Amino acid sequence: MVIYMLIVSGSNSQNLAHRVSKLTNSKLIRTEFKKFPDGELYVKLNGCVEGEDVFLINTQNNQNESIIETILLCDALNDEGAKSINLVIPYMAYARQDKKFKNGESISIRALAKIYSSICDSLLIINPHEKDICSFFDVPLLYGDAVPEIAKYIYDKYNKSDNFVVLSPDKGAIDMAKVASEVLNCPYDYLEKTRISSTEISIAPKKLNVKDKDVLIIDDIISTGGTMAETIKMLKEQGAKTVIASCIHPVLIGDALNKLFNGGADEVVGTDTYLSEVSIISVDNIVANLINKYIDTEKI
Ligand code: R5P
Repeated sequence: MVIYMLIVSGSNSQNLAHRVSKLTNSKLIRTEFKKFPDGELYVKLNGCVEGEDVFLINTQNNQNESIIETILLCDALNDEGAKSINLVIPYMAYARQDKKFKNGESISIRALAKIYSSICDSLLIINPHEKDICSFFDVPLLYGDAVPEIAKYIYDKYNKSDNFVVLSPDKGAIDMAKVASEVLNCPYDYLEKTRISSTEISIAPKKLNVKDKDVLIIDDIISTGGTMAETIKMLKEQGAKTVIASCIHPVLIGDALNKLFNGGADEVVGTDTYLSEVSIISVDNIVANLINKYIDTEKI
């Protein structure tokens, strides 16, 4: 068997890393992780990486810790002589702070982009909040789209129903609704949202006929669930038959899932970019394809 590259897993992506290593015909290197009593992290590579192209898969479920862990793993990979270090970060934390909303704020993802650019040769991510974050990186940043996978899952589960409407909760996510609607072969639209505070939102009524329709709402992130719960409630009031809340990154803080079901969601679906109770759809094939695409393009 020809081994094309090495996969190294961070503590958050052990299952995904295994599956991607199978799909890409790569060797999975064993890594050890531990936390010292004061909270500091320790990592150790248990395999030879010298002269190898390495893809380090580590999603950022526990935001700050996984960032530190990734930095430590990159240091070890560099020290052990890896030929190239390529970060696979299915859910990239801090990407929502991609501009200055108020004077004095840090552009968080720009700050992190500087660090990533200095410790790796490329980054592969899934559905960033805004695609223009690429400009912050001095190394190639490729991204994959998990929307078709979500739409395919729904299409199969609901027996190829022709009763669907796809909605994005805001204009920013309209492209996602469009992509999903192409798979489901149905109309798509967006709803207008006004954010009142960091945890509260209001959604303006929209003239959209969802009566008796099966509605798929798609967003990049469900975090507190505020955006989605309000949307679901409104659609149910307008007579939607079924409302499925879906997202790529199910961050689902605290009682978010409960909030969604309480708001009337019939189903909540997400991917394993962020591990949660609803991470039903795997991005393994998307990550494997991204890796293959990067290898083809860069000829590594
Ligand atoms: C915002 O622009 C994002 O696309 C999501 O709509 C937002 O992050 C969801 O946040 P929450 O679940 O806290 O309403």
